[in-house]
Amino acid sequence: MSENRSTGWTAYYDATADRPPRRTLVEALARFPAVPGVRQAVDLGSGDGRDTIELLRRGWAVLAIDSEPRALERLRARPDLPAAAKLETLCQRFEEASWPEADLVNASFALPLCPPERFPALWARIVAALKPGGRFAGQLYGPRDGWAGRPGMTHHDRAAVEHLLDGLEAEILEEEESDAVTPRGQPKHWHIFHVVARRGGGFVRRARREDLSRISEIRLAVRENRLLDPGSITEAEVTWFLDNPGFWVWEEHGVVLGFSAADPRNGSVWALFVDPAQEGRGIGRALFATACDVLRVAGHDSATLNTSEGTRAARFYHAQGWREIGRSSKGELILQSEL
Ligand SMILES: C[S@@+](CC[C@H](N)C(=O)[O-])C[C@H]1O[C@@H](n2cnc3c(N)ncnc32)[C@H](O)[C@@H]1O
Repeated sequence: MSENRSTGWTAYYDATADRPPRRTLVEALARFPAVPGVRQAVDLGSGDGRDTIELLRRGWAVLAIDSEPRALERLRARPDLPAAAKLETLCQRFEEASWPEADLVNASFALPLCPPERFPALWARIVAALKPGGRFAGQLYGPRDGWAGRPGMTHHDRAAVEHLLDGLEAEILEEEESDAVTPRGQPKHWHIFHVVARRGGGFVRRARREDLSRISEIRLAVRENRLLDPGSITEAEVTWFLDNPGFWVWEEHGVVLGFSAADPRNGSVWALFVDPAQEGRGIGRALFATACDVLRVAGHDSATLNTSEGTRAARFYHAQGWREIGRSSKGELILQSEL
């Protein structure tokens, strides 16, 4: 049987049934301090639970997400499922699924199975879901991997992997290249990045009225998409955003370092600004993912935003897959993306 990403998973689950949890998972777990209480993990592309079962065994609550119904049926039927397992399952493609905030997002040998055009938004949601101090564990595939170029799969070179980890602390970033066989017995050249990465102390939360002076400070400090007329944003508009989901800040050690605003009434991302001294740390990416989530939850399939041409912001949105659909009356780019 030729091995591909949409068929033959049952053979894969059979072949890996007795294998221990992945090393990236075990290494990530070893880095969490022992504290009372239940921690939440999300296992993306869980398969039949090679890693999920280890998390449950250690008392974690797990949301296992896999697009193959058979994987989750097998997971729920496992004889080694602990009696009081805090397990939820979701049969959905991870690039389309939503999940809660988590202490750990685990994705062992699964993320390369995301189509390239969906990967930036998927990764942004993974990072945004990590609680302060939370971790990502899993694998990405490199450009010399034998499956590079297959339709619907995403491969990253080392620079791209390092870019993904901007704003996270990489605790493990190991590159492996070997000629071996797949679990289903096919010879293959593997080019793998094994990753464990930790999110620092900052987090996204709803904006509050007492944040407004700091939000104005950031808005006036930015170097591009500058606010030329501060009076153009009315008190009523600000109050509406404070009272409705859509206005978010990044707080770190008690200080607001960035904010985003999405308008669920018209499906637009209305603001995304980060303190210029804090750029390049992944703060904008997390705030942007939250803004897009607000619009998705409000029922929008796509979103728009305006930004100035030739800016760092425009490059960021293009890299996330946003496309130009026109110009505003002020000459700004109008960009659109599916959510
Ligand atoms: C190589 S297996 C890895 C399973 C398990 N994580 C492990 O380490 O053994 C990949 C799993 O991801 C699932 N999968 C593939 N593409 C997916 C997608 N886009 N969304 C959700 N699950 C996906 C497959 O059904 C399969 O169970």
